[in-house]
Amino acid sequence: MLSQGSLWKVMDQNKKKLNVAAAAMDHIHNDCILGMGTGSTVNFLIDLIPDIKNKISAVASSSLETEKRLKSHGFTVSSLRELGNLDLYIDGADEATDNLNLIKGGGGALTREKILAAASSKFICIIDDTKLVPFLGKFPLPIEVIPMARSFVSREMIKLKGQPVWRENFLTDNGNDIIDVHNLKITDPLELEATINQITGVVSVGIFAKRSADILLIANNDGIEAINS
Ligand code: A5P
Repeated sequence: MLSQGSLWKVMDQNKKKLNVAAAAMDHIHNDCILGMGTGSTVNFLIDLIPDIKNKISAVASSSLETEKRLKSHGFTVSSLRELGNLDLYIDGADEATDNLNLIKGGGGALTREKILAAASSKFICIIDDTKLVPFLGKFPLPIEVIPMARSFVSREMIKLKGQPVWRENFLTDNGNDIIDVHNLKITDPLELEATINQITGVVSVGIFAKRSADILLIANNDGIEAINS
């Protein structure tokens, strides 16, 4: 059971997640073709958008979990293939820096999230202030790998001075494995993203630097702070 102190922390963080989700609603314009991310912060947004359903002309999802939640609110979920480019992609993150680089994939949806972010004209990332960091890497870096390449990619990550841990009993929506890499010093996110993406067997890495966020909305005790690219 959670201690009283931990319970307050969770409640405080959830309040911030709800506030930042509400702030993101202002960015959803009329006739918006929307991409929806994955995770607890985005879940607050999914529960709010039925109020502005008339503004959303179509929605694509980054995971089966998000798709299920959208459908439970009566949305029809379209595939990216049908939609072409998206106007706006909104998603959370596990870590973010003030220059809008991100670590994502704590929920294992990083590859589909990356695809939707890449296909969107605008990417808004919504976080609470516990996720704002000076440098990426304290949060273990998720990498989606083809299952037969898991050990090979892990050895390559050791060469990069990380400590890979296989996320056991977990398969991505694409049927692949996740390796979480601990203790990486990510001083150049763009370079590390490219290096890891080039390792054979890697499907995608959870660094979002090549396609970073355009706007970072951060919920703190005083309200919402916005950082633009
Ligand atoms: C899902 O794979 C992740 O990229 C999420 O976007 C990220 O983990 C943030 O999730 P929370 O909003 O639950 O913290």
